[in-house]
Amino acid sequence: MADCLDQRSLAGATGSLSRETPVAAASLPELVFNANPAPMWVFDTASLRFLAVNDAVVIRYGYSREELLNLTLREVVAVETTEWLLRELAADTLLPGTSLVWPHRTKAGVLLPLEAIATPLDYPQRTAWLVVGTDITERRRTEAALRQSEEHLRNILAHIPCGVFWKDRALIYSGCNDQFARDCGLSVAGEVLGRTDDDLTACPEEAELSHSRDLQVIANGTPLLNIEETRTRPDGTKATLLISRVPMLDTQQRVIGVLGVYKDVTELKRLEMQFRQAQKMEAIGRLAGGVAHDFNNLLTIISGNVHLLQTMPSDDPEFPLLLDDVRDAAERAATLTRQLLTFSRKQPTRPEVCDLNAIVTGFLSMLRRLIGDRVQLRTELHEQPIPVKVDRSQIEQVLLNLAANAKDAMPQGGTITLVTAAEQGPERLAVLRVSDTGCGMTDEVKKHLFEPFFTTKDVGKGTGLGLATVYGIVQKACGTIGVDSTVGVGTTFTIRLPWCDDPPKASTVLPGQHGTTGTRPPVRTILIVEDEERLRKMARFTLEGQGFSVLEADCAHTALQLLAPPQPCDVLITDMVMPGMDGRELATQVRSRRPDIGVVFISGFVPNQERLDGVPGALFLPKPFTPLDLVKTVERAFRRPPASHPGSSWRSPASS
Ligand SMILES: Nc1ncnc2c1ncn2[C@@H]1O[C@H](COP(=O)(O)OP(=O)(O)O)[C@@H](O)[C@H]1O
Ligand SMILES: [Mg+2]
Repeated sequence: MADCLDQRSLAGATGSLSRETPVAAASLPELVFNANPAPMWVFDTASLRFLAVNDAVVIRYGYSREELLNLTLREVVAVETTEWLLRELAADTLLPGTSLVWPHRTKAGVLLPLEAIATPLDYPQRTAWLVVGTDITERRRTEAALRQSEEHLRNILAHIPCGVFWKDRALIYSGCNDQFARDCGLSVAGEVLGRTDDDLTACPEEAELSHSRDLQVIANGTPLLNIEETRTRPDGTKATLLISRVPMLDTQQRVIGVLGVYKDVTELKRLEMQFRQAQKMEAIGRLAGGVAHDFNNLLTIISGNVHLLQTMPSDDPEFPLLLDDVRDAAERAATLTRQLLTFSRKQPTRPEVCDLNAIVTGFLSMLRRLIGDRVQLRTELHEQPIPVKVDRSQIEQVLLNLAANAKDAMPQGGTITLVTAAEQGPERLAVLRVSDTGCGMTDEVKKHLFEPFFTTKDVGKGTGLGLATVYGIVQKACGTIGVDSTVGVGTTFTIRLPWCDDPPKASTVLPGQHGTTGTRPPVRTILIVEDEERLRKMARFTLEGQGFSVLEADCAHTALQLLAPPQPCDVLITDMVMPGMDGRELATQVRSRRPDIGVVFISGFVPNQERLDGVPGALFLPKPFTPLDLVKTVERAFRRPPASHPGSSWRSPASS
């Protein structure tokens, strides 16, 4: 820098150069020096006196040029700075081009933070330094504002009642808030840096799921909002998180990572389940009315026919027909209880890929029972299966609630139509429509319809929980619900669910899973070995009512004969104490030939465990037992998965 400055022209600037000096008269170096917006001055190495200052200095420091030229550096920089400078100069250790931040004081006493670059300069008869300053007030202000905004963000992150984390494209954590650190069992947020989910969770499946969702967000550049995820806490308990992931973008809109925000909704879920269960009880209460009516009819058939049979000679041609009726009625009663139990069972199942048509058809008999005789039930089902990923019993609850409302809207009778359809838009959707020809509703009612406890019904008739529950269920299944209604004409509820392209579980898309038709092909075979004939008959009747094929034997010997190949058999039910070969011996022999047969021992005596140990996996059912006990136990006894029995569509209350 010293090279490009003409010392004589600068010397001229000492006194004569002033703002009044005509521009034409000034040399180029003078001009560059004077007109430079950066404050520049030259000071004498020995006395620190200003030898030259440019206009920018005059403007900034508030002194006139004459005043400045009578001052030294001492008057404008701090004492320590001066002392330091003098030491450096004396030792000759100040390097040319050294950049220093010196606070300078203006005439008014204001401190200017100035970054100064000093360069030695040969000056007539002395050495001097040229200093070029940069006012960094603005930079300081920007830095402070940035610090403040960072502080502000840090504060938000620290106090927001959510866990927040962010990862780079390689899914390595690049930051998180305290909540997230706590949830991972880390003491400070900084510990998360450089880690991945594999390091932070003990559960590999959870890490994998989280990774796949992160990658989806990064690959598509679109957010994944409000998704429920299960996380194992450091103490081993499970938490349900509602988590949103959004892509993080750089200034060129390139995805550089993923940002996640979540809330722990474990408690909320528990409450929601309680709420739903309460509503289910309400719904079951309504169903029970219909079921009781049916039961009474069935009991009348049974007791009436039994009465007739008792007074009839057994060779009467009517005899077997009446017997058939009794059996039929009992079977229907069993179906009824089974359905009621299936529906009322408490635990929600995991969402599975199901055929919407199958859910609807499987639940029709239940709905008929609910709506009574005055209301017709029609269906218009899509001709193809409609795969949706749902909790089956929850969709049943939706159907039940909508049908119950439809029935209430048609006190004089009418028609309920259930429609399933496929809808093609940007995404393929499964549609479920429930229409009635009832009273319809006003706009005012429509507005509040889905609110919990909103009801227009009398006390004791409505709780206002039906549609709130429906709404919750549909939302959880990532669906939507809408309503169309005209007063005096009717109402249609339309539910849209995501079409699920995952491969369905074979057993869940078979139509008629609920088995309401009664004409299922009996595929699974059960052998009952029991010397007490009436007990054997009861068991046979119960199991046949469930669609099993049943073989009977009154002793072990007969049983072994019956089981000669190719007779199929899935489960052996045997009494333990029998004349001749006992049940345990029989089971051992059968197992040696058919290792995958299920075994159920029935006995009035509780056997000691070692007697059962000889037959691995054998179940024990103490007498006396109810038909339902029997059914439940048999279902547990199957050793081969039902999938290897195509067409078997029976589901017990205990099996799911
Ligand atoms: N199909 C329908 N036709 C007419 N009104 C209906 C229908 N479904 C629901 N509503 C109205 O919505 C209200 C709320 O329904 P819901 O949440 O099931 O509670 P509840 O049936 O206990 O009253 C009902 O009270 C009724 O006024
Ligand atoms: Mg209702």
